[in-house]
Amino acid sequence: MTTSTDRILIIDFGSQVTQLIARRVRESGVYCEVHPFNKVTEASIKAFDPKGLILSGGPASVIGIGTPKAPDAVFTLGLPVLGICYGQQTMVAQLGGKVESSDHREFGRAFIDVKDSNELFKGLWNKGDREQVWMSHGDRVVALPAGFKIAATSEGAPFAAIADDARRFYGVQFHPEVVHTPQGTQLIKNFTHGICGAKGDWTMAAFRAQAVDAVRKQVGKGRVICGLSGGVDSSVVAALIHEAIGEQLTCVLVDHGLMRAGETEQVVRVFRDRFNVKLVARDASDLFLGRLAGMTDPEKKRKTIGAAFIEVFEEEARKIGGADFLAQGTLYPDVIESVSFAGGPSVTIKSHHNVGGLPERMNMKLVEPLRELFKDEVRALGKELGLPDEMVGRHPFPGPGLAIRIPGQEITREKLDILRRADTIYLEEIRNAGLYDSIWQAFAVLLPVRTVGVMGDSRSYDYALALRAVNSTDGMTADFYPFDMAFLGRVANRIINEVKGVNRVTYDVTSKPPGTIEWE
Ligand code: XMP
Repeated sequence: MTTSTDRILIIDFGSQVTQLIARRVRESGVYCEVHPFNKVTEASIKAFDPKGLILSGGPASVIGIGTPKAPDAVFTLGLPVLGICYGQQTMVAQLGGKVESSDHREFGRAFIDVKDSNELFKGLWNKGDREQVWMSHGDRVVALPAGFKIAATSEGAPFAAIADDARRFYGVQFHPEVVHTPQGTQLIKNFTHGICGAKGDWTMAAFRAQAVDAVRKQVGKGRVICGLSGGVDSSVVAALIHEAIGEQLTCVLVDHGLMRAGETEQVVRVFRDRFNVKLVARDASDLFLGRLAGMTDPEKKRKTIGAAFIEVFEEEARKIGGADFLAQGTLYPDVIESVSFAGGPSVTIKSHHNVGGLPERMNMKLVEPLRELFKDEVRALGKELGLPDEMVGRHPFPGPGLAIRIPGQEITREKLDILRRADTIYLEEIRNAGLYDSIWQAFAVLLPVRTVGVMGDSRSYDYALALRAVNSTDGMTADFYPFDMAFLGRVANRIINEVKGVNRVTYDVTSKPPGTIEWE
């Protein structure tokens, strides 16, 4: 989609945190995209028409042969450039300075001493200030190209920040994009707004209007079908496309019987009753639970659910006479081409369930209006479109639903019922404690083990349950959430007292890696 908003181009050298640069730039109200260094050319920069360029960090070393470089055009088009970590080093090396390998590696929190004023530090850092930053480097700059001045030093990096105000070239050895550089967001804003002169006109209201327009253009008079799960992404896609093309959209909700309490009803209420969307809600729980009967292997379960989902979706799509387009909630992190240095095939940890394969089988084209957005922007867009807060702020929920939260055992309606009730209490307590929005994902897991307990005067022999809560930015890594013990005690007490069939509750303190977020 072509936008009329000011934009910044981020050239990626493969850092783990490149996406954070993009998020910080977007948070400053400026549209940006991440392009891999080896795909950027003078023509592609001109076509993108950015107000400025940011060179990301990366795992490579500029010392050696065949190391990744920025295309020369980066430095010849007269655009402002900010090099971060490896980005700074390659800028220095390419412009005639010198980078060396250092025996003083800096990793983690560090302090820089501000030596000079410049446009990047304007209104933020002054000569003589000592500022906390986050470093992660082995190589370091040891001689500057002509035109550059030292802006800040640190113990391990004599050129922790450098500036050439005349050419508007800046470099920082530290990472302003991570939260451990407390003033990093403001520093990036100084670059995007102060130096590049971007207006900060990237808002969800503006995006909404452009996206609606783009969907209308793409779809024309065609018919669109959208799988609606109640999750944030599919809900926002549905609401947006509905705004664009109204009756040409049909949503299909396949209830596989593995949803949480009240979820299906809420989706129907919001979309059919409030938004007046054409919605087919199919209760396919008998089919799914029938296929899952006796099955305990996680991969088999996932594949069975994925296949049944496509089958039912296809059936419902055919009943309504088919469609020309399939709407999908693809987000920007799925689209960014990653820079891979290691190469090689990666192992499958879990087979994720989605509607992959359907577009070809049914001869449909894809409509993906969220391709340019990060998750937090999708949420903001959802609010903008008038979706209820509890839908927009909802924790992620896996496609295979509660089936993968009843691990290593047969799935039955009775177990699903026990799990649903425990999960509801857990989330209710999290909400009451005001913690829901500060947790990435929280859920209960029904364990395949019964344990002995004593309730009143009698012996019990019931299921044990695990509670899980994690914080994460993208689901790729996660830390367990550090609840206080009183909170956990309260939840355990309520579950054991109110949910028949559970007599023991544990808390999962595994991070990812080595654990995964879901148990299966
Ligand atoms: P794991 O368990 O792999 O989960 O650490 C990472 C994130 O992905 C969610 N998840 C899924 N989402 N289909 C989905 O749409 C799936 O099959 C699936 N499996 C896991 C999980 O809930 C977490 O947010």
